[in-house]
Amino acid sequence: MLKVSDINVFYGKVQALFDVSMEVGENEIVSVIGANGAGKTTLMKSIIGINKTQTGGIEFNGKNITNQKPHISIYDGIVYVPEGREVFPEMSVEINLEMGAFSKKYSSAQMQEHKEEVYQLFPRLKERAKQKAGTLSGGEQQMLAIGRGMMSDPALILFDEPSLGLAPVIVDEMFDAIVEINKLKNTPVIIVEQNAFMAMSISNRTYVLENGKISHSGLSSELLESPEIKKAYLGG
Ligand SMILES: Nc1ncnc2c1ncn2[C@@H]1O[C@H](COP(=O)(O)OP(=O)(O)OP(=O)(O)O)[C@@H](O)[C@H]1O
Ligand SMILES: [Mg+2]
Repeated sequence: MLKVSDINVFYGKVQALFDVSMEVGENEIVSVIGANGAGKTTLMKSIIGINKTQTGGIEFNGKNITNQKPHISIYDGIVYVPEGREVFPEMSVEINLEMGAFSKKYSSAQMQEHKEEVYQLFPRLKERAKQKAGTLSGGEQQMLAIGRGMMSDPALILFDEPSLGLAPVIVDEMFDAIVEINKLKNTPVIIVEQNAFMAMSISNRTYVLENGKISHSGLSSELLESPEIKKAYLGG
């Protein structure tokens, strides 16, 4: 359903992605792993159109979405949950969730239904529905960012480092939630992570980015067994 073909992305004169290709199929969870600065976020931003590609192309459900404006990608159902927790700090949890559905014309019943879905996944958010998002803990803000991403029934959801800076028990909760989102509505997922083991454990396939190039790709179950990947990304 998503097909990235040989994209080359630059920041000024500096090239960040080199002939990068990747695919995501129906219902799939795909992980993208790599060291700091490898180009993971750049790739996500290129898919949704924040970064422009000089050559190559991106197709989504048969539509050419190469270099289209990010808000058009949102209307196409591609949701990006960015690195860091970009919630609206002065607004309540509930309003933050509603903002996630701005591209939809929900009735108030549909809005309620979608919020309940998020609350089922993250009961802590329900308890804190009226609390200002900026006063939530880091883990709770991440849950909110993920929940907000679900509000629009995305056709594809991109998670950028959802585990960053979280305690191990919260990390587990976050990955469980991502698997749940994928199962609930068969939503295809791309997950970008430095926590390579976790991301590979929950994904069907993995792409490894090294210095802006895809160095390895394949079934996550196979890459998890690869001595080279183990040494470089899984701590031996
Ligand atoms: N707006 C920008 N202007 C110039 N260079 C940039 C910009 N954004 C990213 N880069 C550079 O592009 C390269 C890839 O960055 P990117 O953010 O995609 O890496 P990443 O794999 O997401 O890293 P991390 O794991 O640290 O988030 C880095 O060398 C970075 O410094
Ligand atoms: Mg990044």
